Amino acid sequence: RSYRIAVIPGDGIGKEVVPEGVRALRAAADAFGFGLDLVEYGFASAEYWTEHGRMLPEDWFDELSGHDALFLGAVGWPETVPDHVSLWGSLLQFRRRFDQYANVRPVRLMPGVTSPLAGRGPGDIDFYVVRENTEGEYSSIGGRIFEGTDREAVVQETVMTRTGVDRILRYAFELARTRDRRRLTSATKSNGISQTMPYWDERVARMAAEYPDVAVDQYHIDILTAHFVLNPDRFDVVVASNLFGDILSDLGPACAGTIGIAPSANINPERRHPSLFEPVHGSAPDIAGRGIANPIGQIWSASMMLDHLGEREAAAAVLRAIEDVLAGERAELTPDLGGKGGTASLGRTIAEAIPAA
Ligand code: NAI
Ligand code: MG
Repeated sequence: RSYRIAVIPGDGIGKEVVPEGVRALRAAADAFGFGLDLVEYGFASAEYWTEHGRMLPEDWFDELSGHDALFLGAVGWPETVPDHVSLWGSLLQFRRRFDQYANVRPVRLMPGVTSPLAGRGPGDIDFYVVRENTEGEYSSIGGRIFEGTDREAVVQETVMTRTGVDRILRYAFELARTRDRRRLTSATKSNGISQTMPYWDERVARMAAEYPDVAVDQYHIDILTAHFVLNPDRFDVVVASNLFGDILSDLGPACAGTIGIAPSANINPERRHPSLFEPVHGSAPDIAGRGIANPIGQIWSASMMLDHLGEREAAAAVLRAIEDVLAGERAELTPDLGGKGGTASLGRTIAEAIPAA
């Protein structure tokens, strides 16, 4: 078996951490006996934009459609391209056109990492945030009226479709079913938002009946954010609309330590299109080019990609290698984790720790 992967380093530290993700992928492929056909693309970067005046080539959709998955670093270099241009011109195109409606972020306190929450150790924080990635509050429906007068008004609609809500809920319920605790928490705000959120709750209740083995609860988003900080051990799988999920999927990883280790997946569960795997962090212009960026977010994203491709054992082995190295010699880690190591040396240490099958 062999997989075709599009590798898109992008900008800044994306170009430094992606090679370490690739190193881990190759080590896993050797250890577990599968093939990798990696094709690297220079688009979705400031260099490409400077040369072509756009972020992606015209035929990007067909070109990338031929891959089993997309492995991305980070996009954005505000000195050269405004962020809304780079983001809307690349990453958001991928997510929307490839219908990657499930945005999945593990929130896990790893050994050797200090949580900003007092008194929490490894094992105390271990859950997933599942964000709806294609509709909801992020519609472009709306506009301004009476502009420039004292009756000026602005409206933006939230759109929830039955298909869109049900498919993200089903994804989250199925994920909860694979976990030991089998608990699903829904983020709502049906006390304040009187149309869409009660509808969301209704669909949750209806689907819960299909999953009697999953324990379901729900919190309003305001108190839910407080519980993320005060009682993170309560959660297992948290499912949320686009806006609420956006907030929770940054708050979660922040509660579990450095942004440099957090991974994410943008998944098209029906596999009609390739899914995309990338670290949570951006291009980090403040440390780019110095060889000190933490590669773990990228390597953990590689593990999620292997899992999605069906290479469960290889995925677990990569994750275990990350955990072993984090729990080991402090000096090998990058400066954001209090170490003296560099991107490449830490990447090599992790790749070497990937055990054979
Ligand atoms: P950022 O995530 O790039 O950096 C935030 C802070 O975290 C910086 O101090 C940075 O040095 C640090 N940091 C990030 N990743 C790190 C790593 N692997 N190791 C050690 N330290 C790390 O976010 P920022 O500065 O807001 O955005 C910079 C650029 O990245 C912008 O152009 C933005 O649009 C883009 N961006 C792209 C994302 C993506 O491609 N998915 C996500 C977030 C931002
Ligand atoms: Mg965000």
